Amino acid sequence: MALRITVIGTGYLGATHAAAMAELGFEVLGLDVVPEKIEMLSAGRVPMYEPGLEELLHKHVEGLPGSTGRLRFTMDYEEVGAFGDVHFVCTNTPQKHGEYACDMSYVNSAFASLAPHLKSDALVVGKSTVPVGSAARLKQLLADQAPEGVELAWNPEFLREGFAVQDTLHPDRLVAGVESERAEKILREVYATPIAEGAPFVVTDFPTAELVKTAANSFLATKLSFINAMAEVCEAADGDVVKLAEAIGYDERIGAKYLRAGIGFGGGCLPKDIRAFMARAGELGADQALTFLREVDSINMRRRGHMVELAREALGDAGFLGKRVAVLGATFKPDSDDVRDSPALNVAGQIHLQGGQVTVYDPKGMANARRVFPTLGYADSALDAVRGADIVLHLTEWREFRDLDPAELGGVVAQRLILDGRNALDSATWREAGWTFRAMGRPKA
Ligand SMILES: NC(=O)c1ccc[n+]([C@@H]2O[C@H](COP(=O)([O-])OP(=O)(O)OC[C@H]3O[C@@H](n4cnc5c(N)ncnc54)[C@H](O)[C@@H]3O)[C@@H](O)[C@H]2O)c1
Repeated sequence: MALRITVIGTGYLGATHAAAMAELGFEVLGLDVVPEKIEMLSAGRVPMYEPGLEELLHKHVEGLPGSTGRLRFTMDYEEVGAFGDVHFVCTNTPQKHGEYACDMSYVNSAFASLAPHLKSDALVVGKSTVPVGSAARLKQLLADQAPEGVELAWNPEFLREGFAVQDTLHPDRLVAGVESERAEKILREVYATPIAEGAPFVVTDFPTAELVKTAANSFLATKLSFINAMAEVCEAADGDVVKLAEAIGYDERIGAKYLRAGIGFGGGCLPKDIRAFMARAGELGADQALTFLREVDSINMRRRGHMVELAREALGDAGFLGKRVAVLGATFKPDSDDVRDSPALNVAGQIHLQGGQVTVYDPKGMANARRVFPTLGYADSALDAVRGADIVLHLTEWREFRDLDPAELGGVVAQRLILDGRNALDSATWREAGWTFRAMGRPKA
């Protein structure tokens, strides 16, 4: 009989995973502890913005017209335990308040709630990003609290927000931390379609599976901070970091991706993951191995302050006082509504606190941004945001912003002054339309 799948925690990762599993042909039951999420998902609505996800829900959520009916949602752990053969745990693992370490309470709670209800041949699969050693501990929790025979596997997730559906259905690799052939066989069955498409399937032990995820994120963070460090040097030496990135990116050993200098990385993953990694390495006595991540983090965090400084400098002596500042972008990256640890909002907030009159516009992140920073001004379009502005800051590289007409915007601002915090706009077009255009790590020209 076909495997029945459950997904515990239906946030950015879990909601996508649940819908993707239904798309792959499985019967799926998703569980969350937030009633509003379950209501929305059950009605085929996505509690966040993720391209293609709503369509997938409509295609599969039980009770919707024309759906396959393979996907439904609940808040009942007993129902989930009775239903599932394979349970994916996708709960959040945020940074602990006041320290670098990972807060495992949501994962612990999900495991503890699930364990007593499991069938004896169930496979529990951890997907959340966790400190190395967590799987060994959770295996013990299952041994203590679940029926005999229940097994654990660790299957970290590499999806990118904004491409989550595509990445889940067509992953560039799958990692399976397993302790038995049976667990491996079950995961191979779950992922039979992407494996048949050619996705590499890497089988490891628990600690390696956990480490693959944090190592991958640490590498990406390091690459971004590397190019941002080069941007600092370019600014000091009057060089151009965009040209530099292009030139070094042609070297296949380096690669052109993840080499765009700007206001740095943010979001619900990279910053907290590298910090949790450092904290865990410290516990393991391997802290020296990761001291470089402290520098990666601090290069990244000072980009935000640097952007504020560049804006103040561009505005002249009076700084932000009484000045209207238009901020284009609130989310931590384009094609998402996620504002968790968003550099764009951080910059907007700092300028607001320094007396600037900030107006933010973002194509999808407005509701979340308003919740996090209710005191900022908000506009319903880029044109409205820049109306009367003394300076425009481009802080999230949405396509909509790349397509803006500098002449049209130039007609409504108080001053044609723009700072590109993402090195994503075409400087020549803006300058031709009479704008003073500045960007991070590039000559003033
Ligand atoms: N978002 C991403 O792009 C991404 C990518 C790869 C890995 N991850 C990792 O996946 C995990 C989840 O991330 P996310 O961005 O989806 O977080 P999220 O906050 O969007 O979703 C987590 C969900 O879990 C639910 N939850 C919390 N406690 C629960 C419990 N005890 N039982 C059931 N549900 C519970 C929450 O209500 C929420 O809906 C994290 O470990 C993250 O690091 C995320």
